Parts: sequence; structure tokens; C-alpha cells
Amino acid sequence: MTENKIAVVPGSFDPITYGHLDIIERACKIFDKVYVSVLRNSSKKGLFSPEERIELISGVTKHLDNVEVVQFDGLLIDFCQQVEADAIIRGLRAVSDFEYEMQLTSMNRKLDSQIETMYIMTNNNYSFISSSIVKEVAKYGGKIEDIVPPLIEDALKEKFKVQ
Ligand code: PNS
Repeated sequence: MTENKIAVVPGSFDPITYGHLDIIERACKIFDKVYVSVLRNSSKKGLFSPEERIELISGVTKHLDNVEVVQFDGLLIDFCQQVEADAIIRGLRAVSDFEYEMQLTSMNRKLDSQIETMYIMTNNNYSFISSSIVKEVAKYGGKIEDIVPPLIEDALKEKFKVQ
């Protein structure tokens, strides 16, 4: 009997972009079960509530059978232990991501050396996207249709009361 391999894709997802979705879809091809875990990043102020983020992520990952979207208020490593994850999956867009990601990985490894962190390179088309940039463009009514799914575009327009 082969053991099911479990991954956690963590993030603040405020909101989820095509860049995030690309990473989640790739993780789904490699792992049997993928938890998309909405966590708190203490250095970021949120636009969407955790509940709204969960709803939006669930909406755009409907086509992925092995995904479960969960909110967790605590340490990522505690969540990973709770769901018996084998790996944490993060996306890498550019060299500028590296330093922060190295810190995150080293700390998580110190907390639990059994859980491996793995990186997936984001599709080049999405390497410039971040939730912060998406929010800024959306706020001023800029075009975001190529960088977030329609559901997210509508939610941003609603938040910012723009068309
Ligand atoms: O999408 P983000 O904001 O880059 O994701 C960062 C996130 C949410 C994964 C990170 O801040 C996190 O793991 N938060 C939960 C609390 C935690 O475990 N912090 C210590 C990690 S060293």
C-alpha cells in the first residue's frame, strides 16, 4: 500500500491571484492531497477577511479534486503537524523573493525538521504578480483581468466600488 503524500500551500492570499493558482495546480499534480492554508502574516494588513479569502480560494479551486482550503490562526508548522503534512510548498517568482523565503524555511525547519519546504517556480507570465500590486491596480480601476480569475476581479471591484 502506498502512503498518501500531503502538501500544504500556505499564504495570506489577500486575494488569491493567477500566480498562486498556478502553484496550487502544480502542487496538485505531485501530491495526493493539498491543503491551501490561509494564515496570518503579521507584517501585512488585510483587505479581505479570512472568511472572504476562504470563499474566494474555494471558488477558484473548484476544479481541483484534491484541494482543501482551510484557515488557521497560528504557526504554519503547527498546522502542518495537525494535518500530517509531508511538505510545505511555496512559489518563487524572482530572486527578490529568496531572502524572505530562506528565513521562512530555516525557521520552519528549526521548528520541525521532518517537514520539508519545497519551491515551485511560478510560470513566467505571472512572475511580476503580487496580491499587493493587484490591490493597488484594482483600487484605481486598472485592468486586472489577466492577473486574477473573474471571481476575484469582481470581489476587488466590489471592495473598491469601482467598475
Ligand atoms: O503570502 P505570504 O504573506 O507571503 O505568506 C506568509 C505566511 C502567511 C505563510 C507566513 O507569514 C506564515 O507562515 N504565517 C503564519 C505564522 C508563522 O508560522 N510564522 C512563522 C514562520 S517562520
